[in-house]
Amino acid sequence: MTGSTLLSVEEVSKRFGGLVALDGVNLTVNEGEILGLIGPNGAGKSTLMNVISSVYPVSGGRIVFEDTDITSDSVHTNAKRGIVRTFQDSRHFEEITGYENIRLAEIPDKLLSWDMYLSVLTQREESPGVARAIEEVGLSRETLAKTPTDMTHLERIQLAIARALTHDPELLMLDEPFAGLSKEEVDIVAELVTHLNDLGITILLIDHNVGKVTAVANRVAVLHQGSILTKGSPEEIIEDEQMRAAYLGE
Ligand SMILES: Nc1ncnc2c1ncn2[C@@H]1O[C@H](COP(=O)(O)OP(=O)(O)OP(=O)(O)O)[C@@H](O)[C@H]1O
Ligand SMILES: [Mg+2]
Repeated sequence: MTGSTLLSVEEVSKRFGGLVALDGVNLTVNEGEILGLIGPNGAGKSTLMNVISSVYPVSGGRIVFEDTDITSDSVHTNAKRGIVRTFQDSRHFEEITGYENIRLAEIPDKLLSWDMYLSVLTQREESPGVARAIEEVGLSRETLAKTPTDMTHLERIQLAIARALTHDPELLMLDEPFAGLSKEEVDIVAELVTHLNDLGITILLIDHNVGKVTAVANRVAVLHQGSILTKGSPEEIIEDEQMRAAYLGE
């Protein structure tokens, strides 16, 4: 079931010097839905996620979350609101274990070294949010005892999603969670995305895998050269000639 508008992107533009990465994008994400966002390389998908989460300021336009204009708010403020994202390149702290990566969310203050961090961790009990995140993604404690470097690509993606879950997302934005995975692994991540959505998390799913995005999403938008080319139901998008042209022209 999807409800009212949770996030609204209004005429958003983003320029990097002379390059127009986003050119007047309009997009809404409804509460409770999985919105798929597809588009060829360089279309502006990650940039859109970066401006929504405030990693980059917009060059123009407005972003509204739950009726609040969040355009100029910080990454931190937006994270506290429940706008949480993963990165395309699954950024983890490679010096510490997967488990310790997940528990990072428990320590809001900046610590000066990993040694300090790890000693604080051992003095604390694991929070219920951490236990829940680990359970939802289905990573074993054995796997989590490894450093991210020693994990498989799938495990790194599951770790990224677990870390995101510790921030209790209202809107979870996933940047290419299927990239680089085998067909079977894509199915595992797709099932996880559906499961998280069933728990009530609204999801913005960005990926190149048109087949999988249209299978999982409630609605799909196509971004091309910084603009929304078309949007509609998965069935409509699969048949859409503009979408096909954008991909075939890639
Ligand atoms: N920090 C940046 N500085 C300069 N140019 C950037 C920056 N980030 C993105 N761009 C440019 O903006 C355009 C859109 O890039 P973006 O990464 O958003 O595309 P994308 O749709 O995510 O592509 P991909 O599918 O390859 O991940 C590209 O031309 C890219 O080179
Ligand atoms: Mg990208």
